Amino acid sequence: EMTRGDVLAGLAAAPRRLSGQVTMGGQEHFYLEGQAALAQPGEEGEMRVWSSTQHPTETQHMVAHVLDRPSNLVTTEIRRMGGGFGGKESQANTPACLAALAAELTGRAAKMRLDRDDDMVMTGKRHDFVVEYDVGFDDDGRILAVDMVLAARCGWSADLSGPVTDRALFHADNAYYYPDVRLRSEPLKTNTQSNTAYRGFGGPQGIVAAERVIEEVAFATGLDPLDVRLRNVYGTDTRDLTPYHMTVEDSIAAEIMEQLARDCAYRDRRAALRAANRDSPFVRRGIALTPVKFGISFTATHYNQAGALVHVYTDGSVQVNHGGTEMGQGLHTKMVQIAMREFGLASDRVRITATTTGKVPNTSATAASSGADLNGMAVLDAVRRIKDRLTAFAAGHWNVAPDAVRFLPDGVHVGETIVPFPDLTRAAYLARVSMSSSGFYKTPKISWNPDTGRGRPFYYFAYGAACAEVAIDLLTGETRIERVDILHDAGRSLNPAIDIGQIEGAFVQGAGWLTMEELVWDSAGRLRTHAPSTYKIPACSDRPRIFNVALLEAAPNREDTIFRSKAVGEPPFVHGVAVLHAISDALASLDSYRTCPRLDAPATPETILRTAERLRP
Ligand code: MTE
Ligand code: MOS
Repeated sequence: EMTRGDVLAGLAAAPRRLSGQVTMGGQEHFYLEGQAALAQPGEEGEMRVWSSTQHPTETQHMVAHVLDRPSNLVTTEIRRMGGGFGGKESQANTPACLAALAAELTGRAAKMRLDRDDDMVMTGKRHDFVVEYDVGFDDDGRILAVDMVLAARCGWSADLSGPVTDRALFHADNAYYYPDVRLRSEPLKTNTQSNTAYRGFGGPQGIVAAERVIEEVAFATGLDPLDVRLRNVYGTDTRDLTPYHMTVEDSIAAEIMEQLARDCAYRDRRAALRAANRDSPFVRRGIALTPVKFGISFTATHYNQAGALVHVYTDGSVQVNHGGTEMGQGLHTKMVQIAMREFGLASDRVRITATTTGKVPNTSATAASSGADLNGMAVLDAVRRIKDRLTAFAAGHWNVAPDAVRFLPDGVHVGETIVPFPDLTRAAYLARVSMSSSGFYKTPKISWNPDTGRGRPFYYFAYGAACAEVAIDLLTGETRIERVDILHDAGRSLNPAIDIGQIEGAFVQGAGWLTMEELVWDSAGRLRTHAPSTYKIPACSDRPRIFNVALLEAAPNREDTIFRSKAVGEPPFVHGVAVLHAISDALASLDSYRTCPRLDAPATPETILRTAERLRP
């Protein structure tokens, strides 16, 4: 439970009040590479496991536990995953342990790779939620009190359901200030797959509930939902405290919404759509602009640490190792960039190795979007330690002051002379200078006490906003995403091309979750949607017809993150919420925008037709 103020008194005193319920479905990860592991026994009880895992250290621990031996006999290695999306944070352990067990029993290498159908039947997914809300507000659309119960289907084991359902509470405010608030979590044990992490880790579910509350208030007051959003957004002075008693110091949600609304002409287009809908019997259009505020850090504080190991060889080539895993999000590229920039080297001089527990131990899962934040700082720490030693050596060797030594793209500047990096490293080797270092980082400032529901669980927030325009066909229930504009805050982006790719992919995945991906179990509890033939993920043809993605410019992180960047892996998943609300807006035209359609997710053609039937006068 998270509470602040007195929610019952706040609700009772509010001039207006309403309550309702929103449901949202689960989601299959659909990583292109399924769960897979290869185990090879070695000498004296050693076991080497190649695993498609986001969490090599936990895989190492689980294999050691199953084989009943200490961690120093087990090594886990992962070059890259063909996608993870949270589905390989804990679930990769099963095939790794089974492969290791088979290898142990046979004395031979053993591999386990799940067939797609088996993978979909066996593994856990995004948690589906039912959220009940009670909200007090005034005629100006200002929210005064919010009471919510968030119930989640967790499946047969706890897995990561605790932290996932917590993160749903942490995001049930999205970007909005609730003066009196009570948020309660109901993680439900169910006789189904054990649900697990999935991009956003419960955050998107909380945000869907928050945005439904906004929409309800907008319909009740007759205001444009964007105005309700702007009136309730976190601000400075007294409207900056979250339900978990963390002060929002960096809110830029209002500015982002306003800038995006201007850039994509939201208000003019909204008016034009509404007019056009009056003369369109079968095709209705809708538009919505929704923000995201996403907390960055693992809420379990101890996970917010990372290590790295950097070697510089005598020929001046560099090997970078770190504790993070690559799953398509471009983490390795960003880590190489950091070493390149610090040493002044070209990309062909810096090599990144596979992630292995043999090089960097005691790592956290690559998750919570924190891979670049944590490992980037650890890589920077290792590189700077080596640079400090090389600088001291160069200063002594060439007789200059240490601050006259600078590592630049054309070579190492040592006073007036430019020494090629390989010449420096060869000379340093002969002088017996160590050119290898580990690096370490732990996130400052954060703390969280789950017993009191208070603390600063997040180092900072990532922000963004999306505007979606859709057309729905009232004969078939089909949706087409006509146009999407996204303005997203990646701080001072480490790599704009990668970050824009992350935003595009995350949006499409989020829109898929809320519009077409549907899990169906039969009465015997069997999953009937266990292959692409029955489970529909977005295809190329489902992408927005017009798709404009921009990074917020001149927006360095206010906190001292790696080169002032912001995490980008999960927050843009939430932009899919704009599509749900645009569909809702299109449906609302059926009764001339008088009632909130209370559209549940996924808004499949069936759901859209059912909702339309309810709304038709
Ligand atoms: N992008 C791709 N291409 N593939 C993935 O599996 N996983 C997402 C996101 N982006 C994923 C992805 C999830 S769930 C997270 S938590 C982050 O990447 C993890 O990587 P990061 O912390 O380095 O951003
Ligand atoms: Mo991402 S769900 O934190 O792996």
